[in-house]
Amino acid sequence: MSDPTTSTSTAPGQNLLIRPFTQAHLPGALLLSQQVGWPHRLEDWELNLALSQGLVALEGARVAGTTLCTRFGDVALLNMIIVDGALRGRGLGRMLMAAAMDLAAGREMRLIATPEGQPLYEKLGFHATGQILQHQGISRGGAPALPVREGCAQDVAELARMDLAASGLERSAMIARIAQTGTILRADQGFALLRAFGRGHVLGPVVARDTATASALIDEGARRMAGRFLRIDLPKGTGLSDHVAKLGLANAGGGTAMIRPPSGPAAGQDFTTFALASQALG
Ligand SMILES: CC(C)(COP(=O)(O)OP(=O)(O)OC[C@H]1O[C@@H](n2cnc3c(N)ncnc32)[C@H](O)[C@@H]1OP(=O)(O)O)[C@@H](O)C(=O)NCCC(=O)NCCS
Repeated sequence: MSDPTTSTSTAPGQNLLIRPFTQAHLPGALLLSQQVGWPHRLEDWELNLALSQGLVALEGARVAGTTLCTRFGDVALLNMIIVDGALRGRGLGRMLMAAAMDLAAGREMRLIATPEGQPLYEKLGFHATGQILQHQGISRGGAPALPVREGCAQDVAELARMDLAASGLERSAMIARIAQTGTILRADQGFALLRAFGRGHVLGPVVARDTATASALIDEGARRMAGRFLRIDLPKGTGLSDHVAKLGLANAGGGTAMIRPPSGPAAGQDFTTFALASQALG
C-alpha cells in the first residue's frame, strides 16, 4: 500500500485531491473547523499538526476535508475529521478515515466521536467505551484542599510516566510542547497542564492517583483562571462533573470515546486520567 502522507490521490467521482496535510493547509483547515462551530485557534491546529500526520481533501486550493492521525507510542488517536458541509454524504469522510487508519500502521486506534461521526466509525469497526463530558464557562475560582505547586520543564519525563500509566499514551512530546507555553501544576500524586485553547484556557490532562488529588489540581486551575473562560473535558465516571459545575464550568455537551479493536478494561493502573488534554489529543 502507498504511504498516504507522501502520495496524492483523487477522491472517486469528485474533483478533489487527497494530499498530505502540511502547515500551508492550516488556514484552510481553520476555516473548516470554524464552519462546524469548533473553537480551535490557528495555534491549536498547529499543536495538533506538529504531533501528527494527516491528510487534506483539496477542491482546487480550498481545504474541503481534514483528518489527523496522532501516534503516541503503541496507540494512534484519529482526530480533526471534518468534511465541508456541501460535500458530505458522498464518501469523502470514509475515504479520509481509511487513509488516517493506514497512518495508524497497526496500532490500537482511539477517537472521540461527535454524534455526526459515530455512525461512520461504527461501520469502520470502532466500539464505544464511554462518554466525555465537556465542561466550560467563566471560572468562579477554587480552593485546593491539597498542596499544588508549579512544575517546570525538568518534570516532563516524570509527568510522561504518570500519563503513560494512566492512559497508555506515550505523550512526552506533547507534554514538552505544552510546557513551553502553558503551566504545569504538580501535586504529590499527580499533575495537570493549563494552556490557552479555543475561547480561553483548557485544563488537561489531569492525571492523578486519586480523586482528592485530581480535585485539588482542578481547584488550583480554576483559582488561577478566576473570572476567565476555562474548559475541562472529563471522562464520565471519574465522578468530578458536579464538582466542576460548582466551579462555574457547566456541562456543554461532549462526545463518545471509541476504540478499535475493542480491548478489555486496563487492570491495576496506578494513575487515572481525570481530564483530557483535548478531545483530539486524548
Ligand atoms: C462525520 C463526517 C466527517 C462524515 O463525512 P461524510 O463525507 O459525510 O461521510 P461519508 O459520506 O463518507 O459517509 C460515511 C458513512 O457514514 C454513514 N453515515 C453518515 N451519517 C450517518 C448517520 N447520521 N446515520 C447513519 N449513517 C450515517 C454514511 O451513510 C456512510 O456509510 P457508507 O460508507 O456505508 O455508505 C461529516 O459529517 C462532518 O464533517 N461532520 C462535522 C464534523 C464532525 O462531527 N466530525 C467528526 C469528528 S469525530
